[in-house]
Order: sequence, then structure tokens, then C-alpha cells
Amino acid sequence: MKPVIALTKGRLEKQFLHYYEALGYDIDPLIDKGRKLRVDTNDFQFIFAKGPDVATYVQYGIADLGIVGGDILAEFQPDVFDLFPLPFGACRMAVATEEGKVWSNGKKRIASKYTGITKAFYKEKGESVDIIKLEGSVELAPILGLSDAIVDIVETGNTLLENGLVVEEEFMHFSARLIANRSALKIKRAALQPVIEKLEPKGAQPN
Ligand code: PRP
Ligand code: MG
Repeated sequence: MKPVIALTKGRLEKQFLHYYEALGYDIDPLIDKGRKLRVDTNDFQFIFAKGPDVATYVQYGIADLGIVGGDILAEFQPDVFDLFPLPFGACRMAVATEEGKVWSNGKKRIASKYTGITKAFYKEKGESVDIIKLEGSVELAPILGLSDAIVDIVETGNTLLENGLVVEEEFMHFSARLIANRSALKIKRAALQPVIEKLEPKGAQPN
């Protein structure tokens, strides 16, 4: 049985494939996968899922390893072994508002996909806010008047810029991370250890 790796679809997937190819692995089956969500290469079976689900597949041992954003681990706190940061997917968590936002005195409304992180952030500040959960495109919320601000990840800053929003405060930094199922690390150690060592970035990395 080949090790199973769960990979976060989209931006992290593309960045991972560059990294993975540079390590000498064959990426052809992963590039030509079409709409398939499960793809075998010579070395692994890959499954493609959204970030929170990557963590779930790894937690339940369906996948041995996972490539997931640190933001997902912070928000959902899955019971997985967080091995190390990978040298891509750098982003930060920020509060953003419309440029020139004038705050009223009432309770702030904050829209976010990251309700856990948002709640903890404002609790730490000692500020009571209303949090509105959205599933994506959260930049719409302040523009359309659903919220006063958003808490979301910023990578290039293009989404904020193109929607007339600005960062008010940055408060967490993340990158992609390699995670593992806890028992697979023990039971499949012989198979996984060389892979983990190969995937580990060489040279100093921020944790
Ligand atoms: C993410 C995030 C921001 C954007 C940040 O959204 O929620 O909107 O990327 O990246 P940038 O700073 O490079 O523009 P994503 O595209 O994953 O879509 P979603 O919010 O609809 O889930
Ligand atoms: Mg977005």
C-alpha cells in the first residue's frame, strides 16, 4: 500500500506541486488529473480536498500525511501531528476594513470564515463584537454593509486591493504545513519516515 497524502486543493496544491517536483518526484499524473479527486503516482496516492477536510482525512487515518495551511490548524485544531512548516503558502491573518472607514460607537460586526480565531482575537482584546460566519468571498461583507470589518487571510493582498479594503491590523502569520496521522506515524514509520525526511525543508525555517 502506498502512503496516502491529502492535498489542499487550489493555491496550496499548485505551490506544493512546484516544491514536490523540485524534490525529484514525478508530477505528471497530478497535473493531468482533470476532475479526479484521487490520483495515484508511482510513489503515493493523493487525495484532493478543501483545507479543513484535509485535516479531517488525516485525523481519521484515511490519509497518512496532509498538506494544509497553518490557518486551518489554528481554526479547527484537528487532532493530528503537526510535523513542520513548508516553504510556501505564507500568509497572515488580518482585520480589514473599507479604506477610510469611520467607526460608529455601536458593537462592531465582523465577518469571517475563521470564527474561532476571530472570537479568540477579540476576547484577548477584551472587545465584544458580533461575528458573522461566511463561507468565502468575505471581502464582500464590508462593501455591501453586512459587516464593519473582516478577519481573513491575506497572501498577496490583491483581493483586498481590488475590493477597496485595507488591512487594519495583522495578528498571525502562517505557512503551509506537513501534518501526519498520529498512529500512522508509529505503525507505518518505516514507510513514512523517508518521505517525511525528503519533504522536510532543508535549511532554517520559521516555525
Ligand atoms: C483567500 C482569502 C482571501 C484571499 C487572500 O480566498 O480568503 O480572500 O485568498 O489572497 P490574496 O491576498 O493573495 O488576494 P480564496 O481565494 O481562497 O477564496 P474564498 O475566500 O472564497 O474561500
Ligand atoms: Mg477569499
